[in-house]
Amino acid sequence: MNVSRNFLLLGTGFLIVGIIIGMYMGGSGDHSLAASHAHINLLGFVLSVVFALTYKAYPQMTDGRLASIHFLLHLVGAIVLNTLLFLMQAQVISEAAMVPLAPISELCVLIGVLAFGWNVLKNAN
Ligand code: HEM
Ligand code: HEM
Repeated sequence: MNVSRNFLLLGTGFLIVGIIIGMYMGGSGDHSLAASHAHINLLGFVLSVVFALTYKAYPQMTDGRLASIHFLLHLVGAIVLNTLLFLMQAQVISEAAMVPLAPISELCVLIGVLAFGWNVLKNAN
């Protein structure tokens, strides 16, 4: 798997959605989706691109399976969490309805970041 490219594609997808929500908020004057917009852009786009560039700068980090595991965990975690946050802020679902999927997706993101951190310690020389 080309982890750098996959993270770039994932991040760009998030950025497109994030910008559309930002434009909607700016145009409508309804800023109630701000936290959803912030996490689509930051957790979705910025983090993915930072990960992509890190794996490109330290190609030895992609030798084992840690990078692929990280990508899959971030893909699932960030998409599920951002979808739930959007639906909650758009008042389609209640905050209570985010359980248990939200904590599970947060754990996916966290475990992915732990895999990334371990990979940095071992291979980013
Ligand atoms: C055309 C692109 C964009 C538009 C039209 C837009 C528009 C907006 C609007 C209307 C808000 C709500 C402001 C408020 O209620 O205080 C907002 C919040 C925010 N935007 Fe954007 N945005 C854009 C792109 C981005 C990008 C690329 C990022 C990050 C990489 C970003 C990060 C944020 C963050 C973090 C907040 C939340 C700020 C807070 O805590 O209130 N935005 N944006
Ligand atoms: C699993 C990951 C994350 C979780 C569960 C999470 C959770 C939260 C929560 C509960 C809030 C308060 C929202 C509100 O008051 O409506 C928040 C706000 C915020 N978070 Fe996160 N966050 C995560 C990751 C991140 C990351 C990676 C970034 C930046 C790179 C970030 C940037 C922000 C910003 C800028 C705000 C203020 C935005 C606003 O309320 O307009 N978060 N986050």
